[in-house]
Amino acid sequence: MTGKLSRGVRAHFQPARIARDGEHGWLTEQLGETILQEVSSSIGEWEVELGFGKGRYLLQRAATDPQQRLMGIELVSQYFRLVSERAHRRGLDQLVLLQGEALFLLATWLPARFAHTIHIYFPDPWPKAKHHRRRLFDEETVDLLLRALTPDGKIVFATDHQLYGARVLEVLQGHPGVELEMIDSVWPDGARTNYEEKYIVEGRKILRFNARPSLVSAVDPQDAALELLHPLGRETLLVAGSPTRSASSDPLMSESQTGESQTGESQPSS
Ligand SMILES: C[S@@+](CC[C@H](N)C(=O)[O-])C[C@H]1O[C@@H](n2cnc3c(N)ncnc32)[C@H](O)[C@@H]1O
Repeated sequence: MTGKLSRGVRAHFQPARIARDGEHGWLTEQLGETILQEVSSSIGEWEVELGFGKGRYLLQRAATDPQQRLMGIELVSQYFRLVSERAHRRGLDQLVLLQGEALFLLATWLPARFAHTIHIYFPDPWPKAKHHRRRLFDEETVDLLLRALTPDGKIVFATDHQLYGARVLEVLQGHPGVELEMIDSVWPDGARTNYEEKYIVEGRKILRFNARPSLVSAVDPQDAALELLHPLGRETLLVAGSPTRSASSDPLMSESQTGESQTGESQPSS
């Protein structure tokens, strides 16, 4: 679904789907409501995988660890359907699957600190500069990932793409509220995902690490909250919200106030 804001500017309203135990629906429908209530009443108990692809890791985990609350988020609808069908056939009814853009769902739908582990395996590296904004990790979005974690939680990460891996490490090392633990060996449970299995056979070097929120010794809790944001991301946010950028000088802000775009089209209500 795409809404037109003004000439050349498009806003993508992301229709996100949800599935569990053979039941499918839009996030805004009853199933979405029910699961959101369940997530909200079990904050901190979840593990979530972002970009689960064909779902090897999630399906195995759900089979071997039936008590664990598990969630997967995947952009591509074919993978979402494939994995939800497999989960249903195998009776893995604790698995909650979302189809949508992970950062969007973390920013808009999922509660803060709901997960104690975020798994990110072989995320798309988007090597071309014009596509970098699609990456899961940069200074402006890393705090969305951290917001989803409990204070004692962790991000578990792996990539074969050394340049992107170095970039992710740079983002995390620049964050005052994150501690890194490099993992020099394979996982104790062997290859976790389809990509990992393939890359191990090909003999590719794999970068693996855990990233954990670290405690910040600030007296004022408000300072602590600020200190926990990535400084470069925070700078961008502060500039974006600066009062020197008035609504009348900003075509997007004035549009949203009048409800009309520069092309004269009415804006969608949501
Ligand atoms: C390279 S594949 C890796 C799949 C799986 N993790 C593995 O290791 O086999 C990356 C996956 O992430 C999904 N993906 C990429 N960007 C995403 C995003 N922003 N939100 C959710 N899923 C995303 C892609 O559709 C794709 O399935």
